[in-house]
Amino acid sequence: MDLKSGIAAVVTGGASGLGEATARRLAADGAKVAIFDMNAERGALVAKEIGGVFCQVDVTSDASVAAGFLAARARHGQERVLVNCAGIATGAKTASRPKDGGAPKPAPLDAFEKTVQINLIGTFRCIAQSAAGMMGEASLDDGERGVIVCTASVAAVDGQIGQAAYSASKAGVAGMTLPIARDLSTEGIRVVTILPGTFETPMMAAMSEPVRAGLAAGVPFPKRMGRPAEYASLVAEICRNVYLNGECIRLDGAIRMAPR
Ligand SMILES: NC(=O)c1ccc[n+]([C@@H]2O[C@H](COP(=O)([O-])OP(=O)(O)OC[C@H]3O[C@@H](n4cnc5c(N)ncnc54)[C@H](O)[C@@H]3O)[C@@H](O)[C@H]2O)c1
Repeated sequence: MDLKSGIAAVVTGGASGLGEATARRLAADGAKVAIFDMNAERGALVAKEIGGVFCQVDVTSDASVAAGFLAARARHGQERVLVNCAGIATGAKTASRPKDGGAPKPAPLDAFEKTVQINLIGTFRCIAQSAAGMMGEASLDDGERGVIVCTASVAAVDGQIGQAAYSASKAGVAGMTLPIARDLSTEGIRVVTILPGTFETPMMAAMSEPVRAGLAAGVPFPKRMGRPAEYASLVAEICRNVYLNGECIRLDGAIRMAPR
């Protein structure tokens, strides 16, 4: 996919972190970018800076996602690139002992369900609606109609203590990559998933400095967290290289997460 030709791209979660870096990179490479995010203030700001469009979208809602695609396509035409970055990180042990010595309690299911709704089902919802739109377009070079990038996590494979919900949601994203790529292969639409390690984003800023330093120290090389621009650079390469399809790629400095 040649981004220079001014093709339209949609980046979910584009108001912050990995999505924001991706929106900036795709725009710099020549794409017309629409940002889908709940955070209207940041989303509108980033969209303005890159000459793109912001659509306030909640990926857990069919109607909200449909309205976002309608608005984005009205401005830029049918998107040929969809990058799914919208996501949340939650943590809770499967069952735990209250500090006051009371009876052990099972994890509440509402947080588990919300994590899966946003990270997994939200990603699938955006893919399905985007793919249906891409299928209405003529194919480009090599018979390609579009490319879809998803964001899982190394937690899909090495989930830590407290990450049952997050890991389940991300393992779902990784697991559906190949079957979706196969579903859409006859249409010339590629699907590739990135499994980031630890990246310097607002999501990670929520952690304490010692925890962040510990995470950076655990990366074999380079001994630091990843930079959002490094994630965005891989997205740009996935767009560019038509032979990348149906694969999950770790981007993690060789980190393998310990249990905690
Ligand atoms: N930062 C990391 O180290 C890291 C590592 C592995 C995976 N990831 C994944 O990368 C993605 C981006 O993470 P980030 O670190 O940039 O986080 P971030 O919090 O900076 O950005 C996430 C964005 O998603 C948006 N969002 C959340 N719920 C939404 C919803 N229902 N609808 C629309 N938008 C919604 C937020 O408003 C936010 O702008 C996430 O899926 C995250 O799980 C991040």
